[in-house]
Amino acid sequence: MAQAQTKAEVIHWWTSGGESAAVKELANAYKAAGGVWVDSAIAGGEAARAAAINRIVGGTPSTAAQFNTSKQFLDIIDAGLLNNVDEVAVKDGWDKMFPAPILNAIKIKGHYYAVPVNIHMGAWFWYSKAAFTKAGIAAEPKTPDEFFAALDKLKAAGLVPLAQGGQPWQEKLLFDGWLAHAGGSELYLKFYRDRDAATAQSPAFKAILTSFKRLKGYVDAGSPGRNWNDATSLVINGKAGMQLMGDWAKGEFQNAKQTAGKEYGCFPGFGPKSPYIIAGDVFVFPKTSDPAQIKAQHLLASTFTTPATQVAFNNKKGSIPIRTDVDAKGMDACAQIGLQVMKDSSRHLPNSEMLVTPDVAGALQDIITKFWNTNQSVDDAAKAMAAAIKG
Ligand code: GAL
Repeated sequence: MAQAQTKAEVIHWWTSGGESAAVKELANAYKAAGGVWVDSAIAGGEAARAAAINRIVGGTPSTAAQFNTSKQFLDIIDAGLLNNVDEVAVKDGWDKMFPAPILNAIKIKGHYYAVPVNIHMGAWFWYSKAAFTKAGIAAEPKTPDEFFAALDKLKAAGLVPLAQGGQPWQEKLLFDGWLAHAGGSELYLKFYRDRDAATAQSPAFKAILTSFKRLKGYVDAGSPGRNWNDATSLVINGKAGMQLMGDWAKGEFQNAKQTAGKEYGCFPGFGPKSPYIIAGDVFVFPKTSDPAQIKAQHLLASTFTTPATQVAFNNKKGSIPIRTDVDAKGMDACAQIGLQVMKDSSRHLPNSEMLVTPDVAGALQDIITKFWNTNQSVDDAAKAMAAAIKG
């Protein structure tokens, strides 16, 4: 009977090699704490979040469900559909444990409605050392111009210059990363934080749309529909030179037994002060009055944030620990770069879904995907983004 007390069904979208190796660390920690883990993996973030919400609204909620560190779950908080985990947050001292951007996303009106499990950076550059050697690229690009020069060398060497998955969320991620890295934090924040429509029609923003679309010329014909981790595999196998992707991609390199700094390299942007787009994952806890489910929810929340679970999970996930008091010395070379950058809050950028609602994010994603996949003009795309950012 005791076992039934802590049975937890957990909905998540971690289905790639690296992701499933990582989520097993969360499951193992929960089982070691006396829990029974029921794994409900649903491929694709949008599909998993929709399934979790449908189960909640339909009255058969899971015990917990993955969302991004974002505004994605504010509506279901407002609708009274989530439990908070204040009891765990206060007992474990979350206010002192988590960085401000993470706390801002999970603590709503003084209550803690989600447990954060990692800090991902959504826009790293990953590259194959073998591909760079074959293309005669001696150093990591430090500017957008150097980046395009490297893409040209990779093309001339007969390699896929830029590995890209042709799915709307990946095209949006590529745009956001390019806006931050090539446009700079100020332009990014004026658009996403200030939601300034005029910014979207400014020459600087249009220049970013233009250079973003230029990237399309370096992507292979097999890109449409490709999953993000299959794009990462092209870099792992040396068939592609680079990929702009969140550091969940590192989980795939690790799953392929490759070592950062040996078979592959990583850089978090152009130059020593590049912006660091803070992203990540949380688990929310659907409303229930069942004492056994509430007990399971609290056990999940406390188990996921222990130092030991944090190191074991993040090592496999490619992210960095959510708490700043974890001994991360043993983490890989890319994580060490990320941990260093995390100490400089002037470089932190909230990911766009921390700044705009899911509706606005979805509208912008549709605009970016149309712009990327058709011959729509920069002016028309800019006009559409100006209208969409006003929400
Ligand atoms: C992101 C999530 C990551 C990663 C990625 C691809 O939204 O934060 O954990 O797994 O999706 O599935």
